[in-house]
Amino acid sequence: MERRKSPHKPSKKATPENSRVKKKRRVKKTNIAKTALGGEPEKRSRSKTAPMKGEAKPRDLNVHVKTAKRREYGSTLWLKRQLNDPYVRKAKAEGYRSRAAYKLIELDEKFSFLKPGARIVDLGCAPGGWCQVAVKAVGKRGKVVGIDYLEVPSVAGVEILEMDFLDEEAPDRLKKMLVGSADVVLSDMAAPTTGHKATDHLRIVALAEAALDYAEDVLAPGGVFVSKVFAGGAEGQLLTRLKQNFAVVKHAKPKASRSDSAEKYVVATGFRGRS
Ligand SMILES: C[S@@+](CC[C@H](N)C(=O)[O-])C[C@H]1O[C@@H](n2cnc3c(N)ncnc32)[C@H](O)[C@@H]1O
Repeated sequence: MERRKSPHKPSKKATPENSRVKKKRRVKKTNIAKTALGGEPEKRSRSKTAPMKGEAKPRDLNVHVKTAKRREYGSTLWLKRQLNDPYVRKAKAEGYRSRAAYKLIELDEKFSFLKPGARIVDLGCAPGGWCQVAVKAVGKRGKVVGIDYLEVPSVAGVEILEMDFLDEEAPDRLKKMLVGSADVVLSDMAAPTTGHKATDHLRIVALAEAALDYAEDVLAPGGVFVSKVFAGGAEGQLLTRLKQNFAVVKHAKPKASRSDSAEKYVVATGFRGRS
């Protein structure tokens, strides 16, 4: 006896009619699925471990970002890198303003210079990630002052000066805000790169030297100087000065510092005092 097909179950045989319907549905599905950035959306499966209260929902890494007509290729690459960066995700989840916050956390884990009650100066502090880490570490008895020529939204417990550190008035203004000597001078200053290697190198060295001039002026004996440096680390005159004025000079590249970046940090401890 021939089995009767349910009127609700259409035949699976491909007919020109139903394959046209299928094709239409597929096209529609793809359009709906596009994200605001033009990339493929996350797979919608139920997460086994729900995020904790206040914790950002984890995002799949390796987010694909399509190029968009009005977005330059370089911006697309930057966006892709940001979306796929675990430190960017972690910073967002833990409330830090920058992924750079983890560089300072790692440096401190290695060299232990952020102590309760310490007095800290943060040079080139925008958007404020290092300030957040520093103020948390020093507590209410400590003091944190920062400077950047970019506007920095206020960080509770931190005094911020919006000014170019290379302006001749800046060091004195910072000193007045600090009232007294510093235990730690941090510099994460970096000028926008020009793409011309020699020029970029000179600008970075100039910023590190200006930071060291200031550190030598305000640090208390035993104080610590931490500065961003590049390529081979502190070199030439800068390294000579560091070795003369500090008991120990070390270089470190925190894991949070991108492996494709020439960035490094020099950590000089045990300031010998002004001669
Ligand atoms: C890598 S960012 C610092 C990130 C910061 N440590 C954080 O965790 O948020 C470098 C900063 O140095 C600042 N900078 C560079 N040159 C400067 C200068 N001459 N005076 C003040 N700030 C400067 C830039 O504006 C930029 O905000």
